[in-house]
Amino acid sequence: MKVIVTGGAGYLGSHLVDKLLSFGENVFVIDNFSTGREENISHNIGRKNFNYFRADLRYPEDWHPFFKDAGVIMHFAADPSVRESFFKPDKHFRDEIVATFNVVENARKYDVEYVVFASSSTVYGDASTVPTPEEYKNLEPISIYGGFKLACENILKVYSKLYGIKLLILRFANVVGGRGTRGVVYDFVVKLRRNPGVLEILGDGKQRKSYIYVDDAINATIHLYNLLIKKRLPHDVYNIGSEDWISVDEIASIVVKEMGLKDVVFHLNPQTPDGRGWVGDVKNMLLDITRLKETGFKLKYPTSGQAVSRAVKDYLKVVSISR
Ligand SMILES: NC(=O)c1ccc[n+]([C@@H]2O[C@H](COP(=O)([O-])OP(=O)(O)OC[C@H]3O[C@@H](n4cnc5c(N)ncnc54)[C@H](O)[C@@H]3O)[C@@H](O)[C@H]2O)c1
Repeated sequence: MKVIVTGGAGYLGSHLVDKLLSFGENVFVIDNFSTGREENISHNIGRKNFNYFRADLRYPEDWHPFFKDAGVIMHFAADPSVRESFFKPDKHFRDEIVATFNVVENARKYDVEYVVFASSSTVYGDASTVPTPEEYKNLEPISIYGGFKLACENILKVYSKLYGIKLLILRFANVVGGRGTRGVVYDFVVKLRRNPGVLEILGDGKQRKSYIYVDDAINATIHLYNLLIKKRLPHDVYNIGSEDWISVDEIASIVVKEMGLKDVVFHLNPQTPDGRGWVGDVKNMLLDITRLKETGFKLKYPTSGQAVSRAVKDYLKVVSISR
């Protein structure tokens, strides 16, 4: 079966591509390389089962014929910067909503059977139930990014209902490690490489969230996708996160320890009166992953602390002192 991965040159997408290829799948990447990188996929170029096409999903011109014989679209293309979405809602509208509409509309036209969508914990906003289960009803995102993710979920759901596309929605917590180049953990490593004496922390340091190591996030994606195919469910949604949460100042301490530093001064910089790191920053996020575990899936790094420690080791291999 031909598997199309949109955003396959990005962070999560490229790990997904590697995993799919390791299972012998026939993988086709569509990416505009806005945040994606050649180096994320270069090791696969020339492989028999791998192809890619540089194209922009906002414009349904040249790429849609590749959907013709596809069995599944794994839609991972997006602009994932929650913070910047506040300043560029129009860009996010096109990268999220227009692109997702174009993807699912062409999935319908070409009779693609399955769509897997990379959604986010941000659809829950400041949830009153924590850990937050998939069934949580009061979905009130507090960022443009989260609002548009929820809108995309709804577009996909109605297509699934009306046209029979089998849909898997994955709401990821914060994914860390591997090829990641953004997020608080990476940010701290970069800052401490530049200046090992002082660490600026956006927010009051008390923001408490769940972090999952990238291998676990991708293995869960493949596991659930296989389940979707086996069970032939019409529509399903799963949280993908770790067992617990961790505060930003705890993350700072882990990073400092992993880097072997001492006497680092933490400089707190709250951006909102209630201590958030930016407008739209969810202060407390922990996903209920009972459903994921009930499928038999096991995390290799079950706690956020373990995921963060492992991610720091990855980042230290690539973040140079001059960055
Ligand atoms: N990384 C996380 O912690 C996290 C958490 C929750 C959800 N997600 C979601 O997972 C998906 C992947 O995120 P990521 O962290 O790998 O981000 P990323 O920026 O590394 O990957 C996104 C990819 O999409 C491509 N892209 C963007 N707009 C495009 C367009 N219009 N046409 C074609 N390609 C386009 C980019 O070039 C990039 O390769 C996104 O949907 C993101 O919202 C990520």
